[in-house]
Amino acid sequence: MSKNNIYIETYGCQMNFADTELVMGILKNQGYQLAKEINDANVILLNTCSIRDNAEQKIYARLEHLRGNKRRKPGTVIGILGCMAERLRKNLIEEKKVVDLVVGPDEYRRLPEFIDSAFNGEKGIGVKLSRTETYDDIIPYREDGLNAWISVMRGCDKFCTFCVVPFTRGRERSRSLDSIIEEIRQLSGRGFREVTLLGQNVNSYIDSGKDFADLLAASAEVDPRIRIRFTTSHPQDLSEKLLHTIAGYKNICNYIHLPVQSGSNRILELMNRTYSIEHYLNLIDLARKIIPGVSFSTDIISSFPTETEEDHKMTIEVMKQVRYDGAYMFKYSPREKTKAYEMTDDVAEEIKARRLSDIIDVQHQISYEINNSQIGTEEIILVEGNSKKSDDFLAGRTDTNKIVVFPGDEKINIGDYVKVIINRATSGTLFGEVIPG
Ligand code: 5AD
Ligand code: SF4
Repeated sequence: MSKNNIYIETYGCQMNFADTELVMGILKNQGYQLAKEINDANVILLNTCSIRDNAEQKIYARLEHLRGNKRRKPGTVIGILGCMAERLRKNLIEEKKVVDLVVGPDEYRRLPEFIDSAFNGEKGIGVKLSRTETYDDIIPYREDGLNAWISVMRGCDKFCTFCVVPFTRGRERSRSLDSIIEEIRQLSGRGFREVTLLGQNVNSYIDSGKDFADLLAASAEVDPRIRIRFTTSHPQDLSEKLLHTIAGYKNICNYIHLPVQSGSNRILELMNRTYSIEHYLNLIDLARKIIPGVSFSTDIISSFPTETEEDHKMTIEVMKQVRYDGAYMFKYSPREKTKAYEMTDDVAEEIKARRLSDIIDVQHQISYEINNSQIGTEEIILVEGNSKKSDDFLAGRTDTNKIVVFPGDEKINIGDYVKVIINRATSGTLFGEVIPG
């Protein structure tokens, strides 16, 4: 076995998955090898998430487990990357003796140096945040495939009062448009069929006067066979120009993830979301006018401090009004350093649980109805592989990001676009048959 055989586990958001590819790119450039199996590795890195307490608890449990790996194979280096590195710094090394290195999101270039020191028995911490680091010159390491994530900006300046991201990932900065387009060109050459442009708030992307709409247009022009997706948009910054750009290109997906967080203006203000629910609903209307058939998903935080039953009902009202295709729904989790941490987390646990299950039920019903209304329609699907449940069936997604399952056929290959007529639906999946031609 080579001296350095590295295994990375990734937790949390898509930015972290993109960062793991970046880290693998950095390590590969320096001649490190990547292990396919954790048991072959002598360096185990966890790319971590701090967004809610349960994300961190998962990592602590994992570290306890990895203690065993270290016992079985003394000399194994264990490292923490990502948001928890930034948030907990020294504590991780002092309290969790199993951890040898802690490297935050803006210090990945120094990872090889930290790994080498760890092999010499020195514990390392690199958690400085940068105002400029975008890893522009680093080509992430990706296996061949169909979908690629590309982070186009890092950090966030919004300071929503519940959110730890501005503290763990630092200030907003954009990668250069030219390097992003060059990366998409390379992915096109390798046969990729879908690119998702990532950022905490992609709508504040800016490079030499080019905004996110310009970047999206330039990305779409690289290869008409590549579908372009993006996430996440902040409702205050999403421009009309962006909506026209989405409408103007066939290969920019008609799907917008637009976190609302709450349906109550009072709560939105406490959250420092900087928009009112009226602004948000107008934006949805405008998007539906400019992009016929556009679908939406959202994020909702239930039980933010002081949330009343009235506020909760307003959130449900907004869900019913917008009729999201999908929603990510969370219980509020207090995070140190944030403004909301100073507020009392005053909604009782059983009320939190009930409100969360209320909104999950509402969304479930809406998704079911929307999906059933698709029966009889024709959709263009990018074939992504076999369905999870059976190798006789293929699965792919519509432009609007819905999963569609349909019978396989030897003439259909992964990466093809096929036309499918929908004949059945659940709240999570559409089923159909390929229309020849
Ligand atoms: N508690 C619960 N959910 C949170 N999110 C961010 N911070 C918190 C928190 N402290 C949710 C928001 C955000 C998504 C990525 O995670 O809904 O949009
Ligand atoms: Fe967090 Fe708000 Fe920034 Fe999103 S926009 S990362 S919720 S601070």
